[in-house]
Amino acid sequence: MKVSVTTLPLADLDVDLLLMPIAEDAAATVLPPLAGAIGEALSRAADDFTGAPGEAILFYPDAARARRAALLGMGPSAAVEAERLRTVSARGAELAAERKAATVALRVPATTLDAETAGQALVEGFVLASYRFLRYKTDEEGAYRGPERLVLHAADDEKAARRGADRGRIVAEATGTARDLVNTSPHEKTPTLLAKAVEKIGKKHGFEVSVWDKSVIEEEKMGGLLAVNRGSPEPPVFMELTWLPENAVNAKPVVLVGKGVVFDTGGLSLKETKDSMDFMKADMSGAAAVVGAMEALARLAVPLYVVGLIPATDNRPGENAYVPGDVLVMHSGKTVEVLNTDAEGRLILADALSYAKIYRPELVIDLATLTGAQVVALGTEVAAVMTNDQNGAADRLQAIEAAGQRSGDLVHPMPMHDHYGKLLESTVADIKNIGGKEAGSITAAKFLEHFVDYPWLHLDIAGPAFVHKEKPYRPAGGTGFGVRLLVKFLRDYAHPKKR
Ligand code: BES
Ligand code: MN
Ligand code: ZN
Repeated sequence: MKVSVTTLPLADLDVDLLLMPIAEDAAATVLPPLAGAIGEALSRAADDFTGAPGEAILFYPDAARARRAALLGMGPSAAVEAERLRTVSARGAELAAERKAATVALRVPATTLDAETAGQALVEGFVLASYRFLRYKTDEEGAYRGPERLVLHAADDEKAARRGADRGRIVAEATGTARDLVNTSPHEKTPTLLAKAVEKIGKKHGFEVSVWDKSVIEEEKMGGLLAVNRGSPEPPVFMELTWLPENAVNAKPVVLVGKGVVFDTGGLSLKETKDSMDFMKADMSGAAAVVGAMEALARLAVPLYVVGLIPATDNRPGENAYVPGDVLVMHSGKTVEVLNTDAEGRLILADALSYAKIYRPELVIDLATLTGAQVVALGTEVAAVMTNDQNGAADRLQAIEAAGQRSGDLVHPMPMHDHYGKLLESTVADIKNIGGKEAGSITAAKFLEHFVDYPWLHLDIAGPAFVHKEKPYRPAGGTGFGVRLLVKFLRDYAHPKKR
């Protein structure tokens, strides 16, 4: 979608649909001058307008070039944060789709937010809501694919609005990249094919991608990744993505690690199909978030040295599959007793986290659809975040929570007390790969903690990575959760004042 910013008079905007978000307590003062600008039809529409969030009143302006217009309710102005602008804008995108609008104008409402933040949120909401995954829809060829052009109408501070609009578009498109990867059929994203797709994305947007095949993974003795892969006819890959701009503010990288289980059957500890295995193509959502974030960092030229690591395999019950009882020697040299082959994500992540030590990273952030327990604890809107005791733990947690609030990708911290770690004691190996019934997302994090020796954030995104039914600006399927969060967190992290 093309996105631009204008300060032309509203009545001059030649579009299929003109959207005007208005707060409920601002209606009385805002509507009369708007009617003056685009005609009396607006005052008649305004009779029905309450301003409640979600409200959309369509009308046909009599003194403007726009074919249609709509008043969008924003609720009380005191509650208008970036997230409200995203959802209001998403409502406008819905309306645009219903009317098959090719061109849409969106009036930036007066709020307490600065023009850049408002512009970003409005464009993000609109572009995210206009996302469609049509790759496998044979009857939609040549059909309507959402608006071609969005024009943001800014009252003043056009430059700031344009900065925000550009960033909003890029972040939303990068989120779309992550969604595409998640929504792709499993047989079209074997580890090798996924690596090809990531190489293509890297080439297009300007970050480096190197892909290791199985022989290198063997040389590196990644015992976790190799064990999980044993039941699969498809070889594993390990990807290293690099964004190293000349003006990077850090010498040691921030490393992002994404779980890349391209399909999780559970292995011999086989999953049930319904509501479980039936969406496990999404088990590479952590990897997808890392790819999307790298795309956005490169396109936004964020001055930060960032490395992305993606261990990728599927998890299948093949002839040679690893079994409960197997003891693995991991990349780090630690031994792990496998008691459930469905706890595979932590095994491949452990190898990647252990490998990450060679970079002497300032910080490592991993993202993984790791546990059903995360979904039980926090649901599908909020990811769990855990950190280790290394210096700055409290600041790190605060920074990621703030980035969550601001970006819309919400996170909530979980405790990491030592006693949870005891649940992983094994009788034959250093640790076992499951902790038991209680506190499943925490014991998974405790498992990973054995493989890190640097400041670390762990994000369990099992719930928010995928929605079975559409939610505001998230159509059913992969959500791209994590891209907006990482971009916000890393942009703040690169900011000189915070270093
Ligand atoms: N990929 C799943 C976790 C998952 C569950 C992701 C629901 C998205 C939605 C993971 O590999 C898994 O199977 N975890 C097990 C761990 C258990 C065996 C300790 C789980 O949560 O049941
Ligand atoms: Mn599993
Ligand atoms: Zn899994």
